[in-house]
Amino acid sequence: MTAPAVPQRLAAPEPGWTDTVDVVVIGSGIAGLTAALKARALGSVLVVTKDVVASGSTQWAQGGIAAALSPEDSPEDHLKDTLVAGAGLSDPEAVRVLVTEGPDAVRDLIELGAVFDTGAGGDLSLTREGGHHRNRIAHAGGDATGAEIERALVAAVKRAPDIRIIEHALVLDLLKAEDGAIAGVTLHVMGEGQLDGVGAIRSRAVILASGGLGQLYAATTNPSVSTGDGMALALRAGAKVRDLEFIQFHPTVLWLGKGAKGQQPLVSEAVRGEGAFLVDHEGKRFMQGQHELADLAPRDIVAKAIMRQMLASGKDHVFLDARDFGDEKWRVRFPTILASCRSHGIDPVHELIPVAPACHYSSGGVWTDLHGQTSVPGLYACGEVACTGVHGANRLASNSLLEGLVFARRIADSLTKQLPVLREPAADHRVPGLVDAGVVPELQRVMTVGAGVIRSASGLSEAGDRLAKLFEQPAEQPGTPDWEATNLATVASALIEAATTREESRGSHWREDYPDRDDENWSGSLDLTLPAEDDSARPAATFVAQAPREGN
Ligand code: SIN
Repeated sequence: MTAPAVPQRLAAPEPGWTDTVDVVVIGSGIAGLTAALKARALGSVLVVTKDVVASGSTQWAQGGIAAALSPEDSPEDHLKDTLVAGAGLSDPEAVRVLVTEGPDAVRDLIELGAVFDTGAGGDLSLTREGGHHRNRIAHAGGDATGAEIERALVAAVKRAPDIRIIEHALVLDLLKAEDGAIAGVTLHVMGEGQLDGVGAIRSRAVILASGGLGQLYAATTNPSVSTGDGMALALRAGAKVRDLEFIQFHPTVLWLGKGAKGQQPLVSEAVRGEGAFLVDHEGKRFMQGQHELADLAPRDIVAKAIMRQMLASGKDHVFLDARDFGDEKWRVRFPTILASCRSHGIDPVHELIPVAPACHYSSGGVWTDLHGQTSVPGLYACGEVACTGVHGANRLASNSLLEGLVFARRIADSLTKQLPVLREPAADHRVPGLVDAGVVPELQRVMTVGAGVIRSASGLSEAGDRLAKLFEQPAEQPGTPDWEATNLATVASALIEAATTREESRGSHWREDYPDRDDENWSGSLDLTLPAEDDSARPAATFVAQAPREGN
C-alpha cells in the first residue's frame, strides 16, 4: 500500500470554553474576507485566521486577476482558454460561472475600494499571462495585485464591526452532529484573556477558505501558513477531496541557489506577458516551437519545458531575459519583483534572472458543487482549499483570485436562501493522533523528490514508505507545530494516493512511467476520502468518470 496511515483526528486537550455564532469562516484571504463581508447580512460571522489577517497567499499574488473586462474580450474567450489549460478535466459549468460572474465581481471589488492600474484614458490596464489569448489580467501597484486586494478587503472588514476576527487561531477539527451535518469547530487560540487555549465554537455553517498546501514541498511560493489545514480537516470530517494530484509548479520562481528552502520569491508570468522570454545557459530561447504561445504557453507546458532543459543540461535553473524592459518599465510595472531580485544581488535591468519551477498552487481541493457546498452538509469551501471544478488538471494563470471571489459570493447567496439550523455536536469516537513537527523538513524533501514535478510508481512508493516511517515518530506535546505537521502528513498521504492511482500524464501531473495523456482510461477525477482503520485512517481514491470536455 503506497499511502501512509495518518491520525483520524488531532490529539488535543478538551475544549476549555465554548462560543456560538451563525457562520464560522476559516481563513482571511480574498475568499474568506469576501465570504465574511457577504455573509454578515445573515447573522453573526466569525473569521478565524492562523496568523494576522493579511498573512495568507492572497497578499503575495503578483500577476493579477483575470476577467473579460475589455470590449475586445468575452466570457466565451475566457472560458475557452480556461478549458484548454484544464487539459480535459475542468467542469465547463463551473468555468461558465467563473467567466460570466467574474467581470461584475471585479467591478464590485473596485467599488469596495481596490485600486487597479489604469492607462492614460482611465481604462483598466490589462495584461496577458500564460495560456491567455487576450489581454485580460487586471493588476494593481504594477505587480502587487494581491496586496492591494487584501488591503481593500481588510479595510472593508474593519468598517464592518459586526464581523468578529480571531487571529493566531488554528482550527483543529470540525464538529459534526448525529446526522453528519456540521455543528461547529474546535480551535486553538494563542490569545490572552477570555479566548485562550483550546475551545469549541458551535455554528450553523462553516466556510473553509484556508488556502493551499505549498509547505508540503521544500521550495514553494506559498507563505509558511500554507500547511494544507483546510484539506486535512475536511478529509478527517469525511468530506471528499478531488484532483489533489494536480499540483501546479510555477515555472519562474527566483532561483536562490541549490537547496534553497521555504517560501521563494515569485517572478510573475506577467513579466513574460510583457515580453520577457526564457533562455538556457547558452542564451538560447527554448520555448519557440514548443507551443503556439511559446513563452506564454499554459503553465504546465512551460514548467515541463524548463524541467527538460534542466535535466538535459544537468543545471538546476534556466534564465528569464527581461533586459529589454529598461529601468523605467521595471520600476513602474514590476517594482516588487525588481526589489526582490535586487535584494538577492540580481539586477534584472542588466542581468538575466535565474529561475526554476517551485510548488505554487493546488488545482484540486475540497470538492464543492457550484454553490460552494462540500459533500458534508453545512460545510462550504472556496479559494485554493476548494475544488470547484474550474481548474481541472492545470489552473489558468490569474484565475485563482477570481475563483475565490466568485465562489465566496455564491456561498453567501446560497446561505441566504437556506442557512442550516444550529445542531448539537455529537460525541466524537475517532482515535486521536499526532505527527511530530520534527519530521517536516524530511517530509518536504521526500515529497519534492518522490511526488514533485516528475513522478513514477517507484518514486511514489518509496516516498510513501519513507513517510510511513516518519509518521511513526511520536509527538511529545500537542501544539501548533505538531498539529500543522499532522495536517501536512494527511494531505501528503492523500496526494501520494492520488498521484499513484492516476497512471497517465496530464496537466500538472507528470508520470515518467506513463508519459502520455490517456483519455480512454483517465477522463475523470479522483475523489479522495479518509476511511478509518483500527486506530488510524488511510486515504482511498475513487475514480469519477467525466465525459471529455468541449474545447479540449
Ligand atoms: C503570477 O503572477 O505569475 C502568478 C499568477 C497566478 O498564479 O495565477
